[in-house]
Amino acid sequence: MKPKVIVTGANGYIASLVRLYNAGSFDFTCVSHSQLDFSKPKDVASYFEKADFDLVFHTAANATTADCARDPEGTHRINTESAIEIARVCDARNKRMVFLSTEQLFNGKAQPGPFTEVEEPQSVTDYGRQKAEVDSWMRANLSNYVILRLSWQFGLPMPHVRVSPGILGRVLTAVRTAMPTKFTVNEKRCMTYAQHLADGFGKLAEAPSGVYNVASENDLTTYDAARFVAKRLGCSDTQVEELILPDRERYADRFRDFRLDGSKARALGVPLTSFEEDVDTCLRDFGLL
Ligand SMILES: NC(=O)c1ccc[n+]([C@@H]2O[C@H](COP(=O)([O-])OP(=O)(O)OC[C@H]3O[C@@H](n4cnc5c(N)ncnc54)[C@H](OP(=O)(O)O)[C@@H]3O)[C@@H](O)[C@H]2O)c1
Repeated sequence: MKPKVIVTGANGYIASLVRLYNAGSFDFTCVSHSQLDFSKPKDVASYFEKADFDLVFHTAANATTADCARDPEGTHRINTESAIEIARVCDARNKRMVFLSTEQLFNGKAQPGPFTEVEEPQSVTDYGRQKAEVDSWMRANLSNYVILRLSWQFGLPMPHVRVSPGILGRVLTAVRTAMPTKFTVNEKRCMTYAQHLADGFGKLAEAPSGVYNVASENDLTTYDAARFVAKRLGCSDTQVEELILPDRERYADRFRDFRLDGSKARALGVPLTSFEEDVDTCLRDFGLL
């Protein structure tokens, strides 16, 4: 019998992609925003106390950094309190929780990444701190959990899969609309083809309890990464210069390097490679290369 998985944020990017590629191995029950509002943690707890499941795949969140800064209390209820309520129920019922955490846990680090799973988080944003609180609560209190710390994911839309904004989408929009767009030079982060998570979900969901970074390697700044994508899309050198502009102001106070080390997940068989290979794989998958 297939494990019964409740997936929250079921219509979001990662959840819909994972469901699409894993429906043969898991019996997914979808929980969408319209069915359960995560700004009401008590409602969330009572839903999960009554629900029938083997595992919760918790993806629902307000992941917009600006929203979290504007409404730290409201987004804390969604991103932190509700997630901890689910974790408590999973613990009481001896069920596994798979939680989507983030690279943003490390955006306050003075030393450069890539960071492994043993590194202690240090975040300077409300969003990062909200996720870090859940991440550390789970590590301290649960014995049966998987925390997936995702780097910035990218991909392209498919029927029933609505993509979150990623590097590929941002560069494609700049090229399609011929709109010069700025990308920060003061940042290094991993950017990963989300298909790897969909392909590796089974291995990660059933992995030994613990934290796993989901990130392909990257040595480029976000600006250089955007230039790479534009070239792979077929832009001439002149078009790249005109459309992909350096943003030198953002993070000028401190270079942010919050890259993650994905070796642990790679050792499980999750097909993480490098940013450049991921871009080519994605473009090939969609017939654009
Ligand atoms: N995509 C990335 O690059 C990335 C990187 C690191 C971590 N993550 C984490 O991965 C998870 C999924 O990301 P994603 O890109 O798939 O995001 P997404 O497409 O925005 O999906 C998030 C889902 O959460 C739901 N949601 C938001 N507020 C809610 C509320 N108050 N009550 C119930 N549901 C609510 C949304 O439902 P509606 O659309 O109906 O509002 C949406 O379906 C998030 O936890 C995010 O923090 C993502």
